[in-house]
Amino acid sequence: MSIFNSLGSNYDLSFALKALLPNLSQVARLFHLEGELASRRVSFNKKNGLKKFLQDKYDGETVLLFKGREAITLALKILNLPKNSKVAINGLTCYVVYHGIEEAGLRPVLLDIPKDDINFSPETLAHSLKANPDIKVVIVQNTLGYPCEIEKISEICRDNNIILIEDLAHSAGGKYENGEEMGTVGDFAVLSFSQDKIVDAVSGGALIIRNKKYEKNKIAHFENPPLQKELTDRLYPLFTYKIRKAYTVGLGKIIHFFLKITQLLSTPMDDNLYKNFLLPNWYCGLIIFAFKNLNKDLEHRKKIAKIYKNNLDKKIIPDLIDKIDLSTNLRFPIFVENRNNLIDYLEKYNIFISDIWYDAPITPKKYLSKTDYEGECPNAEKISSLTLNLPTHKNISEKNAIFITERVNKWLKSS
Ligand SMILES: Cc1ncc(COP(=O)(O)O)c(C=O)c1O
Repeated sequence: MSIFNSLGSNYDLSFALKALLPNLSQVARLFHLEGELASRRVSFNKKNGLKKFLQDKYDGETVLLFKGREAITLALKILNLPKNSKVAINGLTCYVVYHGIEEAGLRPVLLDIPKDDINFSPETLAHSLKANPDIKVVIVQNTLGYPCEIEKISEICRDNNIILIEDLAHSAGGKYENGEEMGTVGDFAVLSFSQDKIVDAVSGGALIIRNKKYEKNKIAHFENPPLQKELTDRLYPLFTYKIRKAYTVGLGKIIHFFLKITQLLSTPMDDNLYKNFLLPNWYCGLIIFAFKNLNKDLEHRKKIAKIYKNNLDKKIIPDLIDKIDLSTNLRFPIFVENRNNLIDYLEKYNIFISDIWYDAPITPKKYLSKTDYEGECPNAEKISSLTLNLPTHKNISEKNAIFITERVNKWLKSS
């Protein structure tokens, strides 16, 4: 089978079939029978189980949502900040984080990263707080699972009365350098269970209100997500499994193209997903399943990351890789000049890694024009022009990882 960074790479056939299992509440919605269901008190409620699990794990009131970006918006709305307050975020991030802040009526401030890292430093944060007294919130992101300097960052937040949000989209299950689990430090933790994340159920998000002071501000009104989105999400693991299987013979590309133009392939960059959508029950079952396998998955990712670290030419490995044992190793970053050339070279061997986290200070690059970005992150620009990610997910065997390192090293020698 071909190797991808994304395209449903967290799933195998059994997950794809699990996602297809019929779900009573969804069928009821399809036939407008929700009232009937409620009156008969019929429910296969996985939601309460997931909520309780997250509440215990992250020690805070938990709100389940349809996307991680909604959890960011909700956290900021709960804070009731003055209009135009600012929120400091990592200067290498995803557009949905940036726009999630705008949806709450607030303004994102990008903190540039150091030349050899993918998370902003405490020094940059301290400097930015001095220059921007309107910053009221800081979001740390632990990019690709690599820990930020949380001790110093949380101390700065405490000293300046700044709210700290830990965004765990890349890093559920990771550890900080002081041994604390990611998500157990800030006032809020945000989780994403969307495509290609560490805990992947195609869609899903959660807000953990860890600071009890804010529990009472909880917002109560939620809508169902669009039914079409739910249906395409349900089919996504099977479709992507088929595409990946058939890619080497060329058929996969055709199926992929057809599913994209007919909008049958669920996409994460959907402008309609910033509302308060609730998380339907069937996603909760997949999320619980993914959490049950989390430790095993993280061990696997670590093993693959170590193969890359030990075998790749050292000159393309950034120093932050020393933190493999703490990281969730969502993807393994390398820094190369001429990366398009390497992407093309690897494609000849059925290795497809053109999906880059991140290819711009606010990614995807084509969304940069929707933001107010004005060159405030030169280091992030440089790093995002050099970086490529090698896959660590469950569909990468040790043999695959060794094959990838051999190809990359060979390309380096010849280039
Ligand atoms: C760092 C980070 N935080 C949050 C999110 C939001 O996740 P979701 O797609 O569930 O809204 C993403 C999505 O890519 C992300 O990369």
